[in-house]
Amino acid sequence: MKVIITVNYDEMSKKAAEIVKKQIKEKHNTVLGLATGSTPLGMYKLLIEMYKRGEIDFSNVITFNLDEYIGLSPDHPQSYHYFMFHNFFNHINVKKENVHIPNGIAEDLEEECRKYEGEIEKAGGIDLQILGIGVNGHIGFNEPEESIETKTHVVTLTEDTINANKRFFKSAEEVPRKAITMGLGSIMKAKKIVLLASGKNKAEAIKETIKGQLTTKVPATVLALHPDVTIIIDKEAASLIPDEDLKEIEVII
Ligand code: PGA
Repeated sequence: MKVIITVNYDEMSKKAAEIVKKQIKEKHNTVLGLATGSTPLGMYKLLIEMYKRGEIDFSNVITFNLDEYIGLSPDHPQSYHYFMFHNFFNHINVKKENVHIPNGIAEDLEEECRKYEGEIEKAGGIDLQILGIGVNGHIGFNEPEESIETKTHVVTLTEDTINANKRFFKSAEEVPRKAITMGLGSIMKAKKIVLLASGKNKAEAIKETIKGQLTTKVPATVLALHPDVTIIIDKEAASLIPDEDLKEIEVII
């Protein structure tokens, strides 16, 4: 696990965008795993700028998003479909048919999960997966649980997640209670993983993730088992990492 600590959010976003750019330059038909939330917004903005300057071509890139709320149609402003098109896809030359986001209004949700997992496989698996992390250590919507679901599945969101995400809705009551998420196994099959975190409220989850002790109570701890993970965090998100763990970390500012 490589950990990069940056001075601030903008530097974190820059490092992440550079990794994505390099990946697409090396493999023009890269399969990208993408995340929603506030954290990757800066990275998306930089990638759009790179595209506009002619530095990246997304025309052969295939994307898979981690998750989607159940019950929100793609045109709902809080759906992750809307988020991705509004903040990223509408501004680059990715082909619509190459974009994959779970369908949160599918009639048969179990079938939708199976289909999604199959589509990832058919695309040859994810080359580079971008992740955020929840305050509770979730990745995708894989919430702290007694047991881990490995494949794409339907999940009931925890109170922590509903509270963290209510800022996007009129009230907590409006936050959907269920979502479809790629499973931890689907995420771990990615060839490379980059996890981003910024701010003090992520510091506890990051400390646990870096510690190297696996627990289903902090789903991100599973990343310790992956051979190619880069964690890019700002100083606030890194603020609770104990000194002895810091020694083993490649700190690049
Ligand atoms: P955030 O969400 O980027 O909005 O903090 C991250 C997450 O919940 O995974």
